[in-house]
Amino acid sequence: MIYKRSSALFTEAQKVIPGGVNSPVRAFKAVGGDPIFVKEAKGAYLYDVDGNRLIDYINSWGPMILGHAHPPVVEAVVEKAKKGTSFGMPTEIETEIAELAVAMVPNIDKIRFVNSGTEACMSAVRLARGFTKRDKIIKFAGCYHGHSDSFLIQAGSGAITFGSPNSPGVTAGTAKDTLLAQYNNLENVKEIITSNPDEIACIIIEPIAGNMGCIPPVEGFLEGLRELCDQHGILLVFDEVMTGFRLARGGAQELTGVNADIVTFGKVIGGGLPVGAFAARKEIMDYLAPVGPVYQAGTLSGNPLAMAAGLAMLTELNEHPEIFESINKKTAYLHKGIAEVLEKYDVTHTINRRGSMISVHFAKDAVVDFESAANGNNDTFKKFFHGMLEQGIYIAPSAFETWFITEALSYEDLDATIAAVDKVAVTL
Ligand SMILES: Cc1ncc(COP(=O)(O)O)c(C=O)c1O
Repeated sequence: MIYKRSSALFTEAQKVIPGGVNSPVRAFKAVGGDPIFVKEAKGAYLYDVDGNRLIDYINSWGPMILGHAHPPVVEAVVEKAKKGTSFGMPTEIETEIAELAVAMVPNIDKIRFVNSGTEACMSAVRLARGFTKRDKIIKFAGCYHGHSDSFLIQAGSGAITFGSPNSPGVTAGTAKDTLLAQYNNLENVKEIITSNPDEIACIIIEPIAGNMGCIPPVEGFLEGLRELCDQHGILLVFDEVMTGFRLARGGAQELTGVNADIVTFGKVIGGGLPVGAFAARKEIMDYLAPVGPVYQAGTLSGNPLAMAAGLAMLTELNEHPEIFESINKKTAYLHKGIAEVLEKYDVTHTINRRGSMISVHFAKDAVVDFESAANGNNDTFKKFFHGMLEQGIYIAPSAFETWFITEALSYEDLDATIAAVDKVAVTL
């Protein structure tokens, strides 16, 4: 395939946008080469500026659960846009989508809309701190909750007592309040809680991790966190920015049967427009301004176009819950097909899957946390990525990402993908 025009546009973009992109992972730094510039997309396909058609397994990193340019979503946005694009005043549609979300998701009474997953997680943590009157939080290595300061933390010299910034610009003062734990390691979480008695406001977690490739929780892990939170007056925050309205109507809470105290959303809830949200029981949410003391705000929060897209998307998922079953089946089909091919060519791999989230780790052993994900062979991944791209299949340009399956994918698309893996695997 030819990517001449994309490369030319990338050269131009780098002159006026840092790294030529508005979000770093788009830049292909982990896999090498120039990023592809999209012209348009429809259903399961991306069409780039060089005229190539690609089967899309990123789907805007999750939200295009029903495919690109899904007609009800597009129509809802177009109709709303004709009536004004932003007012900074309340609109009826905000209540409509809030009512629907509250009906779909277990254990929440109220929800507030923001503009991104980052904002949702940042606000959820502030709310947890305000509600518990405690400062520290626990997050898990390899989980991503957006780019706000409290989350850009790596293990410090004493990981049990404090973390350290993993980006310049994050202060040591902020980092000391984020404690880093190992995913799927309950003992490690217990140790951290014991070393910081009555200081931890919340544990924030991707209940099915997607940001170190797909890593599901091992049996009993989420249940164990719930128990620890109850014992120690800590709030459990499920970051459902990836899993919400994707793994089930009620997200990971419904799928796992474990209740969180605060849930954050992004991606699907905005139908591809910039939307995030956080939600909880009434007594927690009423801690927010203007009712309560915790301040949080946004000029474009609840924006009518974004709400229209989100409402169209959630309505369809709510009325057709068979979609969840269908995308799970498609993902299982893909899983089986890819595994058979990689086994045929003796390619060392581990495939992790939960529902419609799947990732191929080029690692020998089980991938259960960041360390084991990082043990994967990145050179093999790079070859795999570029080989698949050459075959017209677009997967995330990093080994630490999940593939997102959309209902728009046909079984022919899945077969084409498996056939592409067959061509590429022989070169790995
Ligand atoms: C689990 C999770 N939380 C939070 C975020 C941040 O969301 P956003 O990129 O909309 O700020 C992401 C983004 O990929 C995510 O995957």
